[in-house]
Amino acid sequence: MSDVVNVGILGRGTVGGAFRRLLNERADMVEEVSGRRPRVSGVLSRKRGDFDRILARSEIVVELMGGVDPALEYVMQALEAGRHVVTANKQLLAQHGPDLVNAARRGGAQLRFEAAVAGAIPVIRVVQESLGAIPIEKVFGIVNGTTNYILTEMRRSGLSYGEALAQAQELGYAEADPSEDVNGADAAAKMTILARLAFGVPVKLDDVPFEGIERIRPDDLAYAKELGLSLKLLGVAERVGDDAISVRVFPCFLYPGHPLAPIEGAFNAVMVEAPTITEITMSGPGAGGSETASAVLGDVVSVISGGSPLFEENARLRVARDVEMAFYLHLEVEDRPGVLAQVAETLGQNEVSVRSVVQRGRGDDATLIMVMHPVSEKRFAAALKKIGRLRFLRSPPRSIRVIEEEFG
Ligand SMILES: NC(=O)c1ccc[n+]([C@@H]2O[C@H](COP(=O)([O-])OP(=O)(O)OC[C@H]3O[C@@H](n4cnc5c(N)ncnc54)[C@H](OP(=O)(O)O)[C@@H]3O)[C@@H](O)[C@H]2O)c1
Repeated sequence: MSDVVNVGILGRGTVGGAFRRLLNERADMVEEVSGRRPRVSGVLSRKRGDFDRILARSEIVVELMGGVDPALEYVMQALEAGRHVVTANKQLLAQHGPDLVNAARRGGAQLRFEAAVAGAIPVIRVVQESLGAIPIEKVFGIVNGTTNYILTEMRRSGLSYGEALAQAQELGYAEADPSEDVNGADAAAKMTILARLAFGVPVKLDDVPFEGIERIRPDDLAYAKELGLSLKLLGVAERVGDDAISVRVFPCFLYPGHPLAPIEGAFNAVMVEAPTITEITMSGPGAGGSETASAVLGDVVSVISGGSPLFEENARLRVARDVEMAFYLHLEVEDRPGVLAQVAETLGQNEVSVRSVVQRGRGDDATLIMVMHPVSEKRFAAALKKIGRLRFLRSPPRSIRVIEEEFG
C-alpha cells in the first residue's frame, strides 16, 4: 500500500472548504497515527472539477455536496468501484441508507457518516461501535440546532416564533429557507439514521412521523417558564414492548433535572439508554463548517486506519404505529359554566385521564391548561378532534407532549 492516501472531495462549500483546510493542516498528524499521508486528489463543485477523474484518482471519496441528486449517483458509483466514502449527507442516508450499505458491501468499501447526525458530536460512533454490542433501549435528543435556538430565544426573550426565526436567520443559525429545520423533517432524517443503527431495523423516512415548532406560541413558553419546564424539539427512537420500535419527532416539555433541559441555543444533545449503561448524554455543536469538518476528518482517519463498522439487521423488530405519551392541552374557551365538565367528559370517553387543570383569565381571556396522564397517542388525537368541535372554543386546541421521566 502506498504511503499516500488520495482523498477526492465532492463539494467546496461551508463544510467542503473547511474540510479541505483541516485535512491540509492535520496531514502530519494523520500520517503519524495511521502511517499514511492524506493528499487531496481533486475537488468538485458545480463550476469546477470532473467527477470521473476524481473517482479514478481517489482511494477515499468525501461527499460534501448535499442533496440526493447527483450525490446518490456519485456515492453509489464510488462504493461499487471499491472507493471508501465519507459523507455528511443526512438526506442521502435517510432515503437510501440500505442501498448504500449494500453497495459498500458489494464494492468491499467502507461507508462512514459521523457528520450526518449532530455535527461534531460522535453519536454515530458511540451507537454503532462503542455500544454496538449491547441492546439499546432508547436513543433520543435535540438533533436540530436551528429549532433549539428559536425555542431558547422565545423562552428567554419572549419573542414570537417569527421574530426568533428572523433572529436565527440574521445570525446564520437558520437558512434562508428554514422549512426542513422548523417542520421537523431534518430531525426525522437524522432519527431514521440513528434508529437503523441502534436497533438494526431498516426504518424508512416514511416510518417517522414528525411535527415541527411552527405552531408554538409565546404563551406555551410562558407556561413552561412559570412551571420551570423546558420546551424542546425532540427526536425519539425507542423499543416498544418486545417486538417493536417507535421513531418520532415532536416538540415537548421536559421537567427540570432532565439532562436535555439545560441544552440551549444552537447546540445538539443526544442521550442513549440501555440497561447496562443506564444512560449517556453527549452534547455539543450540531453544525458549523469547522465543527462538521472535524467529524468528517475523524471518519477519514478511521477509514485509513481500517476496521469497518457493523451494519447489523434485526428484522424481528417492527415499527410501532402508536405509543403512550403525556400531553399538555391549551384551550381558549368561553367563560361559562359547564365548559370544564364537557371537556373532561370528552377526554374520559376516549380514556384520557387528566393529571392537572388550571383555569387562567376571565371572560374573553379564559384559558384552560390541562396536563394528561400518559395515554395512547391515537386515543388522545381522537379526543382532541372531538374537543376541536366543541362550540365554546375560541380557537383550535393546542397540545404539546410532555416527557415525565425523572433523572435523579
Ligand atoms: N453546514 C453545516 O453546518 C452542516 C452540518 C452538518 C452536515 N452538513 C451537511 O454537509 C453537506 C454540505 O453542506 P454545506 O453547508 O457545506 O453546503 P454548501 O455550502 O451549499 O456547499 C455545497 C457544495 O457542493 C457543491 N455542489 C452542489 N451541488 C453540486 C453538483 N450538482 N455538482 C457539483 N458540485 C455541487 C457546491 O458547488 P458550488 O460551490 O459550485 O455551488 C458547493 O461547493 C450537506 O449534506 C449538509 O447537510 C452541513
